[in-house]
Amino acid sequence: MEKPKHHIFVCSSSRLTGEIKGFCAQKEGLEILENFVEEVQDRSLDADIMVTNTGCLGLCSMGPIVMIYPEQTWYGKVSPDDVEDIMDALEEGSQVERLII
Ligand code: FES
Repeated sequence: MEKPKHHIFVCSSSRLTGEIKGFCAQKEGLEILENFVEEVQDRSLDADIMVTNTGCLGLCSMGPIVMIYPEQTWYGKVSPDDVEDIMDALEEGSQVERLII
């Protein structure tokens, strides 16, 4: 498997035990995760972009949190409706300024 060009991490609030518990999951973190997976598939970017859920990142009050690497872009208070804008920006090599933390 080739390494992806971009890796999108979506906080799903999971704890070390695997338990899903916390702010980002309560604030539609899982729906955001699903939307990213669908957008990547719809845009045929599976070979270039990997989507992964993460445990709590310690930024709950700013959640739901999305991180993109290697760009080192961190987004906060992301909603499911923001996913399309984030993907558009990623493809354009830019960022969604209103969501940056
Ligand atoms: S639950 Fe997402 S940052 Fe804490």
